[in-house]
Parts: sequence; C-alpha cells; structure tokens
Amino acid sequence: MKPLAALQTVAADNGIESSVTDVMAQVAQLFASGFGDIEAMLDRAAVDAPTPVDDVLAYMQDAGGKRIRPALCLLSARAVSSEAPLPVALATVCELLHSASLLHDDVIDEGDMRRGVPAARKVWTNALSILSGDYALMKCLEIMADFPKAYLQLLVSTLRELVEGEIVQLGLRNSMQATEADYFAIVNGKTSSLFHFSALVGAMSAGAHAETCQALGTFGRHLGTAFQLIDDVLDFDSQPQNLGKDLLADISQGKMTLPVILAAERAPEMQALLTQLTMTADVVDVAQQISQTVRRSGALSDVRARAAAISQQAVEALGVLPAERAPLVRLMTQMADALLTRRR
Ligand code: FPP
Ligand code: MG
Repeated sequence: MKPLAALQTVAADNGIESSVTDVMAQVAQLFASGFGDIEAMLDRAAVDAPTPVDDVLAYMQDAGGKRIRPALCLLSARAVSSEAPLPVALATVCELLHSASLLHDDVIDEGDMRRGVPAARKVWTNALSILSGDYALMKCLEIMADFPKAYLQLLVSTLRELVEGEIVQLGLRNSMQATEADYFAIVNGKTSSLFHFSALVGAMSAGAHAETCQALGTFGRHLGTAFQLIDDVLDFDSQPQNLGKDLLADISQGKMTLPVILAAERAPEMQALLTQLTMTADVVDVAQQISQTVRRSGALSDVRARAAAISQQAVEALGVLPAERAPLVRLMTQMADALLTRRR
C-alpha cells in the first residue's frame, strides 16, 4: 500500500477526525517516499529486536499513532530548505522516542488502553513493556551516534526534560497543592520537550541559521503544550472509542491537570471530592463526580481557549521564515489548527 493510502486507512480505522487526517494526508503527499522510509525504518527497528521485544515494537507501530512528531521534523526541515534531504533517520528517532516513553508511561500510570488497543503491558507484562521501551531508547541512541555531537546533546537534554517532567508529575499525584505553574512545568517536560526536539532537529538538519532553528524549536514547543492541554480536555470530553484510551484516566490516576486546577478555583465542592478520591475504593464513582464538576465549572472551554492562544504563539514563531516558504507555513498552521479541534 502507498504511504498516503496506508496513512488514511490507519486514520480511518482509528477514528481520527477528518481535519487531522486531511492535514496529515497533505503532509504525506508532500513527502511522498519520506513517510514510507520512516515506516520502513520503524519496521526494521522492530524486526531487528530480539524476541519478544520485536513483537512489542511491531504491536506499537501497527496500533497506528498519529505520527505527529516525525511529521513535525520533516515539515521543519522543508520549512528551511526545499533541497536538503529529508531527515528520515531523525524523524524515526522522534517516533521511536515517543513509543519508548509511552511503553514506560503505561507502566507508571497503570494505563490499560493505548491507541484503541490494550496497552503492551496488558498484552505482555510490565517488565516486557519497560524492556521494550529501553530497547527503543537504545535504538534512538544508536541512530543518533552517527550524527554530530550537537544532536546527541540535544537528545540528552530532551531526555532530561522528559524524565524530570514525569518525576514532578509523580511527586504531585493526588496533591491538592498542585498549581498552574506546576502543571505547565510538567507539560513542558513530558510533552513539549519532544515536540521541541522534533522541530529543532529538522531545522538543524536542513542547515538553518541559529535564529531560524530557535524559532522552529519554539514552534514545536508551543505546539506540544497546546497538544497536551487538548489531551487533558479530551480526558473529560471525548468518547473512549475516539480517544483510544480510557476516559477519566488522568483524574483516576490522581493527575491534577489544568481542567481540575481551574475547576478547583471555582467550585468549592471540588476540594472535598479530591480528598475523597484519595481515600475511596470506588475511584470510578468519585472520578465521575469530579468530571461533572469540571464540566459545570466551564474549565474545559477555558483550557481550550488557552490552548488556542498558545497555538497562536506557535504560529507567530514561524514569522521568521522568508515569504517563499509560505506554503510550508500554511501547512504548519493548518496542522496547529487541526490539533486544536482533534477528538483523539
Ligand atoms: C504520556 O503522558 C507520557 C509522556 C508524554 C511522557 C512519558 C515520559 C517518560 C515515562 C520518561 C521518559 C522515558 C523514556 C523511555 C524516554 P500522559 O500519561 O499524560 O498521557 P496518556 O494519557 O496518553 O498516558
Ligand atoms: Mg499516561
């Protein structure tokens, strides 16, 4: 199957709403074989892994993520130069690193569903999910070892941000003291860092000047933040079959996301519900009550508005690109818009 057709099939099978599908179809069309080459490299990484890690990595790949991070890497490179070779290996690292982090994350969060199918840790074991994540991370380092030192340094600083974000999040589980500043520090670490990396290495590979690299990195970082804000809204405001993971998973895991933090400032009953959540055996029932309170408080539309403002900042960062790059800027803007209205 051709990459574009494959992508559309994966999208349709996974219930991705048309705007993200449309933008990703345009991206796949623009990069023609580039996307296929990334899939082939991901396939190779899975096939080469020792059994049964090969099956786990193939399972992750077949479950069909949105491939936003590799797309961002390629778009960023093309936004700099129409001639530079597509950074296929770097884009593959962006997706592999994402998969590695999810394999670990589902163990940390005890997540049961991922991308519409049981999480790898449920199909196999926690131990195998961790080891498969380790293997994918090792593969990233192996690929990066062929690049100049600056790329490896960037990967290391991204890993530091990712891990530190998760550490802060774990420390604040079930904490009613969590503030907006804590929340944004967590998001910046666990999500925005990899979006930043993806856009920045794409620009670097195409030979961009420092100022352009920085601007594209900023685009990625803001895009990642807006993406996570929407993710946290969808936990309260989606259908499990669209989302591909369990609804109310964040609050059931005691994660103080922005919708909860804002609702707690507005609804006096929230404090009691959050206390109840940490003490009850019936987490589902309390999580439902918290969900109703969050929805009634108006916090979800406020978080959506914040995400839109941050996404706008992302698009503004593209202002450094020269006028002849306008078609790429348009596509990146469409991608930012589509991520705001996504349902999964
Ligand atoms: C999903 O967030 C998790 C992340 C975005 C990052 C997880 C990072 C780590 C576990 C540390 C780095 C590890 C490696 C191997 C690189 P979420 O739990 O809010 O979203 P979810 O609802 O999709 O699970
Ligand atoms: Mg999780």
